[in-house]
Amino acid sequence: MTWHALIEVSRESEEPLTAQIEGRIREEISAGVLHPGTRLPSSRQLAEDVGVSRSVVVEAYGRLIAEGYLEAVRGSGTRVAHHLTAPALPTLLDDGLVPPARWDLRPGLPRGAGFPHREWLASYQRALQAVDPGDLGYPPLSGADGLREELARYLGRARGVLTTAGQVMVVSGFAQALGLLCTVLSGAGIDRIAMEDPCHHRQRQFVGEVGIRPVPVPVDDEGIDVEALAATGVRAVLVTPAHQFPTGATLSPARREALVRWARDTGAWVIEDDYDGDLWLEQGARPLALQRLAPDRVVYGGTASKSLAPGLRFGWLALPAGLLAAVERTRSHRDLGSDVLTQLAFAELLRSGHFDRHLRARRDHYRRRRECLEQAVHRFLPGARITGSAAGLHAYVRLPHRVDEAALVGRALERSVLVPGGRRYHARPEGAAPALVVGYTAVPRTGIVEAVRELGAAYARRPAAAGAARCA
Ligand SMILES: Cc1ncc(COP(=O)(O)O)c(C=O)c1O
Repeated sequence: MTWHALIEVSRESEEPLTAQIEGRIREEISAGVLHPGTRLPSSRQLAEDVGVSRSVVVEAYGRLIAEGYLEAVRGSGTRVAHHLTAPALPTLLDDGLVPPARWDLRPGLPRGAGFPHREWLASYQRALQAVDPGDLGYPPLSGADGLREELARYLGRARGVLTTAGQVMVVSGFAQALGLLCTVLSGAGIDRIAMEDPCHHRQRQFVGEVGIRPVPVPVDDEGIDVEALAATGVRAVLVTPAHQFPTGATLSPARREALVRWARDTGAWVIEDDYDGDLWLEQGARPLALQRLAPDRVVYGGTASKSLAPGLRFGWLALPAGLLAAVERTRSHRDLGSDVLTQLAFAELLRSGHFDRHLRARRDHYRRRRECLEQAVHRFLPGARITGSAAGLHAYVRLPHRVDEAALVGRALERSVLVPGGRRYHARPEGAAPALVVGYTAVPRTGIVEAVRELGAAYARRPAAAGAARCA
């Protein structure tokens, strides 16, 4: 049954039939049942279904076209007018609606053009050609066997993760994994989890939603303060040891040892969020996964959101043997596994070496972007400095203490530069030193320079300097 089957006309009414049909369609458009672009039945069809003569419908359509509710498109019938905008789609990313800006410096947006389209297509095609009809049933809850084997191999050689295919679980991004893990912790009687302060503000929300209280623990240039962590008495912690989000600090060797010792001594769980570990941009060796030091206490989590695209909703866990059954059981109560074709395609991408080649190319590309940002910050933001390790898709820019961070973010937006301040990531924003969290991947290199020049003008409260700025 379609919507127009509900149109009823009354011949007893004083209102003419044309007006009744016209009114009914107008109501459906205004209520949002009929969306812009929806094709209406032909006048002949509607007349037949409603039981009126065709001329009545033709006249009703004609009036609605004249009023701007409908449009007649030659060859494709009558449609609800496109100019009647649909209500804006609420976005869960960041905080609601994103204001339009010429330069989008929000962190964590891999550049769409960097997605390996050709290689993904080839991998997907190979996966489809090899797929067995049985593979298209409900997938194994923890992931397709072939992918789990490839992931265990990859995580071992690339990140030093000590795991087996049987301990790997494929998930729909780290966000899903975090909710799942917190549910498991909660089931084990854990009602608080330590979280780095600052950290990703959405993660604080996810944890809170599951009924676990986030306990903020300060971060400095060496990563999370393990003494402060121990003083909280918590039995679980979420950390980003390779590249702290958002400050960029890498957990120092002494802190890594101390964190693992604390977990062993207290029987606590450590959740390692290695969200951009594949994109280490420094010249020196990248730190291996923390999990390697204590595979029995550390849950390792990775994601394709930074290395490929967040839209894939694809990630993985390497679970300690002691948590495996509980995580699988909990997951079995809430979903039926991840998209199997994406899994098989990703396995193919790993197997063929395309993923490694893609990462090498991305690292070179992002390194150049980051260097460009460093030069621009040095030139246009006197007194500001980028802290932490060069990795991933963003940089943390500390501002001089006198700078009013909120005012700067507002003035930057007036100059069409969208960039978040550091305080939004803090559990206690009042005490936090001013900073900007700058993503350098969604705008071209020249755009980075232009955007930072605009920031500099906003920062100095003076008009933007004339003349083109170039990246050396
Ligand atoms: C700190 C941190 N962890 C993890 C993720 C990735 O989450 P997901 O895999 O759900 O996209 C992000 C993405 O922005 C992040 O900033």
